[in-house]
Amino acid sequence: MHDTQSVNKQRIDLDALDEIWVFGYGSLIYKVDFPYLERQTATIHGWERRFWMGSHDHRGTPEKPGRVLTLHPVERAVCFGMAYKITHDVFEHLDHREKNGYLRELIDIALQDGRTIEGIVYIGHADSPAYFGPLDIPSLARHIFDSRGPSGENRDYVFALAQALRQHGVIDEHVVAIETCLLTLQSKDVEE
Ligand code: BEZ
Repeated sequence: MHDTQSVNKQRIDLDALDEIWVFGYGSLIYKVDFPYLERQTATIHGWERRFWMGSHDHRGTPEKPGRVLTLHPVERAVCFGMAYKITHDVFEHLDHREKNGYLRELIDIALQDGRTIEGIVYIGHADSPAYFGPLDIPSLARHIFDSRGPSGENRDYVFALAQALRQHGVIDEHVVAIETCLLTLQSKDVEE
């Protein structure tokens, strides 16, 4: 476990923001276990989703970590997600939920209503001890297929995310490629 809760509390002066928005690109899109004042679909520019972060607490264990999302900078990329307008105190919950190596960062969020506002996103950087980094898609899928933790099967995280993105009409090639491999692994598993 690489707990970032205390460092995140110090990182960004939330009082300097007129409104507090957080951008979700992973489970925050579909697992909303916190109160919010408003939510809108949104995009951030210059980033793509990648299953390059280790999960020692949710979809894996310290002994056998799974793989979850972080953001990777890619020029001209557009990443779809969900933006939530929240109150300051909600960060207590979010920092706890996303404590394994993620840091709060300020980012420009393009809201569906046409406004671009500065908000917060959680990113697992390459220098985090919980960062696993790039791997080819079949190996990523195999790792995810073989992993599970207190929040459940690692593969179910991918399936839920892929479904949530599809419901919004979004095809994310990285997510779909891993989902396809996982479905193949799952069907082979059932046959055996
Ligand atoms: C998210 O769902 O946006 C998220 C992904 C990784 C860490 C924290 C939040």
